Amino acid sequence: MPPTLLITGATGFLGQYLIAAARKSWRVAGTFHRTRREDAARLLAGVDSGRIDLTDFRDVREMLDAVRPSAVIHTAALADPTYCEQHPDESLRVNLQATVNLAGLCGDRNIPFVFTSTDLVFDGTRAPYAEDSPVSSLNLYGEHKALAEQAALDRYDEAAICRMPLLFGFSFNGRIPFFQRMATEFQAGQTMALFADELRTPVSGPVAAAGLLLVAASGMEDESVNPRESERVRGLLHLGGRKRISRYEMGALILEILGLPPFLAQPISFRDVPAVAARPADVSLDSSRAYALGFDPPPIGQQIARLLGRQQEKAKGTNEEEQEEAEQ
Ligand SMILES: NC(=O)c1ccc[n+]([C@@H]2O[C@H](COP(=O)([O-])OP(=O)(O)OC[C@H]3O[C@@H](n4cnc5c(N)ncnc54)[C@H](OP(=O)(O)O)[C@@H]3O)[C@@H](O)[C@H]2O)c1
Repeated sequence: MPPTLLITGATGFLGQYLIAAARKSWRVAGTFHRTRREDAARLLAGVDSGRIDLTDFRDVREMLDAVRPSAVIHTAALADPTYCEQHPDESLRVNLQATVNLAGLCGDRNIPFVFTSTDLVFDGTRAPYAEDSPVSSLNLYGEHKALAEQAALDRYDEAAICRMPLLFGFSFNGRIPFFQRMATEFQAGQTMALFADELRTPVSGPVAAAGLLLVAASGMEDESVNPRESERVRGLLHLGGRKRISRYEMGALILEILGLPPFLAQPISFRDVPAVAARPADVSLDSSRAYALGFDPPPIGQQIARLLGRQQEKAKGTNEEEQEEAEQ
C-alpha cells in the first residue's frame, strides 16, 4: 500500500497539478472548500476527497484522524493579493491561522508538513532573494504569508516552508490563470498588454508540483516516493525557476513557440496601472538550495512548449493519462 499524501486546496491551480503528479506513486487524499460538489467530483475523480473549512480546528483534527496521512502539502489559501487586501480578517484566518493549526497538528503526529508560501513575502528591491533574506512584504497577502511561515515553524520546527514563485499553466476549475489567458487570446489573434518591468522566476504547475513532492517525500523510507533516499527537508526553501523574466517576455516566448506575430504582446509598466495590493518590482528567488537537493526546473521555453503541446494534444482528444505521462 503506497503512503498517503494529503493535499489541501486540491481544487486549486497548484492542487490540480499536484494531484496529477502525486497519484503516480502516492495514495492521494485532497480537500476543497467552496467548489461545488459536482465540480469537485469531476476535478478530483479517483481521489479520496472531502469538503472542509480549514479555519475550523476541530474539523481539521478529525479529518487528519480519519485520513491518517503520511505527509501533508498545504496549498489551500486565499492566494489573490487584491482579495486579501479587501478581506484582511478572512486572509488572517485562512492564510495565517489555518496554516499554524495544520502545522501544529502535523507536528503532534510527527509527519512531514509542507507549506506553500510565496515570493511576495519580499518587497522587490533587493532581488535575487535567498532563504535568509529578510522578509518585508508590500501587501497584506505577503505579510500574512510571512507571519504564517514563522508561526508554522514556531509550532513545528520540522515543517518545510516552500516559497513558490509565479506559477503558470492551465486550470480546469473555472478560474483562468494569466498564462491560459495569454495563450487563448494570442491564439485568437488578440493583442495583450503585459508588464515588462515586473520580474519573477516563474515555474510551470508541473515543475512546481515535482519540487513539492520531492520535499514531501524527503526523509521517507518508502522508495516508491523517495527513490533518492534523500533526508528530510526542513525550514525555508525557494522553489523558483532559473530565469528572471517578465510577463511580457513570457508572452513573447509563447508567441514564438506558437509561430504568431510578436506585436501581439505589448509592453506596459506595472507602475502605470493602479493596484489595490501594491506590486513589488522584482521578487526573483535564488533557489540554489533546492537545486542542490535535486529540484531541476527545465529552461522556461521548454516548460512553456510542454504546456502548450499538451493543450494542443488535449484539443485533438488524446488520452489524458498519456498527456500526464508526457508532461514530466
Ligand atoms: N498561483 C501562483 O502563482 C502562486 C504563486 C506563489 C505562491 N502560491 C501559493 O501556492 C498555493 C496554491 O495557490 P493556488 O494558485 O493554487 O491557489 P488557488 O487556485 O486560489 O486555490 C486555493 C485553494 O484553497 C482552497 N481554500 C481556500 N480557502 C479555504 C478554506 N477556508 N478552507 C479550505 N480550503 C480553502 C480552495 O478551495 P475551493 O476552491 O474549493 O474553495 C482552493 O482549492 C497558495 O499557498 C499560494 O499562496 C501561488
